[in-house]
Amino acid sequence: MIISLMGYMGSGKSAAADRLAQDLGIGFIDLDDAIEESQKKSISEIFSELGPIRFRKIEKEVLTQILNSDQDFVLALGGGTPAYYDNLDLIKKHSRTVYLRTKISTLIERLESQKESRPLLSHLSSDEMSEFIAKHLFERRNFYEAADFTVDTDNKTIQEISAEIIHLLRQ
Ligand code: S3P
Repeated sequence: MIISLMGYMGSGKSAAADRLAQDLGIGFIDLDDAIEESQKKSISEIFSELGPIRFRKIEKEVLTQILNSDQDFVLALGGGTPAYYDNLDLIKKHSRTVYLRTKISTLIERLESQKESRPLLSHLSSDEMSEFIAKHLFERRNFYEAADFTVDTDNKTIQEISAEIIHLLRQ
């Protein structure tokens, strides 16, 4: 079984997926890492050198390859992955899906300090960032809410989030 974690940037997908994989004793794949590995470039370099459209094409190619595996693992998606092409259908067809839902205020606080490494945010001022995140999350919410399960992450530890996902998957 593949378990895919989706949610906005800063929702803790990679950390939760890593922990969940350890708790379940299965593998962990981070889609952004797999994309970086496939191009031998960082996500920021892919955006700046190849552009956002090419990034989304590469993202889809790498996602398709990963989802075609018959191994068991936890997959941390990128924040935008379910919102492009038919990625959401593909993800839902090949995996159990969990939306890590995080309050906008928490996302803004976390992303403020990680802005530089995030190509979609790095050019924004603090004021612009709050507005951008609120709008962007609103646009993406429908994709995330198509997940099989939703877990609220605010004020929870990674261990608690992982335990909650395991509980939901076993129901
Ligand atoms: C993106 C999220 C990033 C990365 C890229 C685009 C997005 O992944 O794929 O910068 O469109 O939300 P994380 O959500 O893992 O930061």
